[in-house]
Formats: sequence, C-alpha cells, structure tokens
Amino acid sequence: MATSEKVKIVEMAARDGLQNEPRHLSVEARLSLIRDLAATGLRHIEGGAFVSPRWVPQMAGAEELFRQLPSDDGVTYSALVPNLQGLEAALRAGCREVAVFAAASEAFSRSNINCSIDESFERFAPVLHTAREAGVPVRGYVSCVLGCPFSGPVATDAVVRVASRLYQMGCHEISLGDTIGAGRPDETARLIEHCARALPITALAGHFHDTYGMAIANIHVALGLGMRTFDSSVAGLGGCPYSPGASGNVATEDVLYLLHGMGFETGIDLDAVARVGARISAELGQPSRSRVGLALAARDARHL
Ligand code: HMG
Ligand code: MG
Repeated sequence: MATSEKVKIVEMAARDGLQNEPRHLSVEARLSLIRDLAATGLRHIEGGAFVSPRWVPQMAGAEELFRQLPSDDGVTYSALVPNLQGLEAALRAGCREVAVFAAASEAFSRSNINCSIDESFERFAPVLHTAREAGVPVRGYVSCVLGCPFSGPVATDAVVRVASRLYQMGCHEISLGDTIGAGRPDETARLIEHCARALPITALAGHFHDTYGMAIANIHVALGLGMRTFDSSVAGLGGCPYSPGASGNVATEDVLYLLHGMGFETGIDLDAVARVGARISAELGQPSRSRVGLALAARDARHL
C-alpha cells in the first residue's frame, strides 16, 4: 500500500449520531459540536436532516442550523433530504450538498420513510433534478446492505440494484449502510466486490454501524478492496430511530487510529477528535463508545 494514499471520512455525529439520542440537543449545542468537529481537520460533516420533525424531533431546526454554518471554511456541510420539500428547505438554508436515502429492504423503507423502494425513487427524481439545477451534489445512501431489522437477510442483488439506480440517477457517491451493524468481514467483502462490478469503487463509501463490534474489521477488508471513503461518528454516537436495536456508527477515533497506523492520510487530528468525543459524551451523559477515545483519555490522565 502506498503510504500517502488519502482516505475521506464523512463525519456523522451531528446527524446519525444525534438522531436517536434520548437527550435532544438544541440547535446551538449542535452547532457547537459541528464547529468543534470542523476544527479537527474534518472536511466532510453531515450537519443534520431536513426530515419531518414529527418523525425525528432530534433533527428539528435544520434550517436555522444550516443558515449559521460557514460557507468559506473548506468544509462541506451536508444534509439528508427525503423528498423535494426537504431539498427546498436545505437550499433555502444555503446547504451545499445533500443526500437521499434509500433502502435495499422493503420493510425498512416503509418503516423509515413510509413508502416502498420504487416510491422512494419517484420522490428522489425531482430532488436530483432540482439539486442539479442548483449545482448541489447529491449523495445516495443504501440502508440494510447486510441485513434488515424487520425482514432479516437482504439479497446482495437487491443492494446492487438500489446502489446502481442511485448512481445512474446522478448521485455522485453511494454510501453502503450496514444499518444494524451485524455484517462480518467475509460478507462485507462479498458485498463490496459485487457492488464494485456495477459501480466504480471510487464512488462507493462504507457506512458501518458497530452493534456487533465488527465495523473496524469490515473497514479493514473494504480498504483492501480499494474503498477509500468511510462514514463514522465521533464517540461512536448514533443509531436509527427506525432500526430497533442498532447501535452507533463506528467511532471516528477508532477509524483514524486504524488509518493512520496503516499510513493513510486523512488530514484529521486524532487527539483533537478524541477531545471532542469526550466532551460530547459528557454533554449527553454517557460514556464514549470509542475504544480509542477511551484509551487516549486514560493515557492523557496518566500523564497529567
Ligand atoms: P409522511 O408522513 O409519509 O410524509 O413522511 P407526507 O408527505 O405524507 O407529509 C406528512 C407531514 O410531514 C406533512 O406535515 C409534511 O409537511 C411533513 P403536516 O401537513 O402533517 O404538518 N413533511 C416534512 N416536514 C419536514 N421536512 C420534510 C417533510 N416531508 C414531509 N422533508 C417522510 C415521509 C419521509 C417525511 C418521513 O417518513 C420522514 O421524515 N422520515 C425520516 C426518517 C429519518 O430521518 N430516518 C433516519 C435517517 S436514515 C438513516 O439513519 C440511515 C442512514 O444512516 C444509513 C444507514 O445507517 O443505513 C442514512
Ligand atoms: Mg446510519
């Protein structure tokens, strides 16, 4: 492996990380988290979701939040949009990258966005069209790529179909979501190999929840297959309100520890991320779920 290869991290804490938290943070507190994250060198931060506040009250106030984010600091602050209504609000607030979210499982699609997979694509078509006219890139998520919380196993072909459909309609990057965090490295490798036959590997991202503790192992095999974009969340925050039992995203601290140790460049300061992780965990009244974050905090305490 070349030692100077770059890996892109898309930081999820302010969206995936907070959308399932019992403690709802104010717009001001979420802004403060996002500013702290940007100061660590993170250059891709998902800042929130323009979804129904009745469905996900934790994301309420996205318009107010995005209006206050800087537009000239070299950071891309993106947002989820489930439909044209969400996109229009995102554009009003000055959001410069959005993401639509589909699923490879019908049951999850119904539970999460209240429509079938085909209906979700009907909603995405005008989103892609309007975003293109506004010059706003659109990312696409595929949930349940390694299992569904309601219907169990998900066929690899179904994942490839949804990922390809998103790519063909104009999404520049397709994030493959192990929503329930149950996937193991061998299955992950098979899935990525299949997807990479249909789409360029450079257009694929890995989005691993860490419910079963397999996320870092999955990222390691994905790196070996050439994947270079990963979603992660400081302190391992996260979960989906419509995916019962799933825990947070893989922790950004853990991913950085792996990547830097392997010689990949991220441009992100691991120690600074770990401090943000400790602070947000304290604010939420829970221990960090990052093994690396906890180890670094213990190391710092020993050296005080
Ligand atoms: P619906 O009830 O079918 O929508 O919900 P509707 O079109 O019938 O509208 C009902 C009401 O919602 C109306 O308000 C609309 O105005 C409002 P009312 O007239 O009743 O007062 N509404 C909206 N409000 C704000 N923003 C909008 C919007 N659209 C409609 N964009 C809907 C459909 C998609 C809106 C709903 O199901 C929803 O908001 N779902 C979001 C669920 C969500 O955010 N889940 C978590 C994110 S996905 C995830 O975590 C997975 C991921 O991390 C990858 C992985 O891990 O797998 C990405
Ligand atoms: Mg997720």
